[in-house]
Amino acid sequence: MRLKDKVCVITGSAQGIGEAIAGGYAEEGAKVVIADLPCQMEQAQKVAKEIGSEIVLEIDIRDRTSISNCFAKAAEHFGHIDVLVNNAGINRTNDFDKQTEQEWNEVIDVDLTGVFRCCQEVLPHIADNGRIINIASLSAHTGGPRSPAYAAAKMGVIALTHNVARFLAPRGICVNALSPGVIGNEFTEITMAPEVKKWNMERILLKRFADAKEMVGAAIFLASDESRYYTAQTMSVNGGAWVH
Ligand SMILES: NC(=O)c1ccc[n+]([C@@H]2O[C@H](COP(=O)([O-])OP(=O)(O)OC[C@H]3O[C@@H](n4cnc5c(N)ncnc54)[C@H](O)[C@@H]3O)[C@@H](O)[C@H]2O)c1
Repeated sequence: MRLKDKVCVITGSAQGIGEAIAGGYAEEGAKVVIADLPCQMEQAQKVAKEIGSEIVLEIDIRDRTSISNCFAKAAEHFGHIDVLVNNAGINRTNDFDKQTEQEWNEVIDVDLTGVFRCCQEVLPHIADNGRIINIASLSAHTGGPRSPAYAAAKMGVIALTHNVARFLAPRGICVNALSPGVIGNEFTEITMAPEVKKWNMERILLKRFADAKEMVGAAIFLASDESRYYTAQTMSVNGGAWVH
């Protein structure tokens, strides 16, 4: 059990990659906090029941008060937080010349500023030698075809990861980005145009999209004691996708 009794808060964990990581952490003995939007609470409760999580909390990472309430409740329940996974994210796909300022602002607000807010708001609760794992994306590296705001936000997350790692290193807290490739799930179905899917597939050495569960091993490593000398890094799990 590599995460025995570690208190792990995962944002956006009612479905998708967050749900997969929550399940993997629970199997490794973690005390998992499922955190997601109020409209996702029914689904979040289902996930919690399946994986044996004691606590489901509402969080909207666009709202600082919602974040601080969520983390305070998690810390009140378990005493502290060991691991924060900043997984919640959205996309608004459009070509560069058509991306509206509203779409840009929505994506930056959740995918970049949301992660910034969460990293700040966890500070009073995160234990020394804890971990922060920020979910980035292959889009950051490829320039996200048809996702200008998303690509910029995710590259911003990688830069922010370096800064927060620097800030928290004196406390032994390791801060890393996990950068998934293309997951063959609903998020991809909704947000990725067929020509972009084809473009991506041509660049993936393993010639298939990932299952969300294939992100779990890296997420466990980054949360565990095994990663105590690993910080300010980006771990890409993308089937050998080429960045050109
Ligand atoms: N699906 C992919 O191919 C892919 C690839 C690379 C990176 N990612 C990243 O992985 C993460 C998870 O993606 P996914 O594929 O599981 O997506 P998903 O849409 O299945 O899940 C995202 C979760 O985030 C939650 N969420 C959205 N906005 C929120 C907010 N403001 N506050 C709190 N929660 C919010 C949603 O309710 C949902 O449960 C995201 O950061 C995404 O950018 C996904």
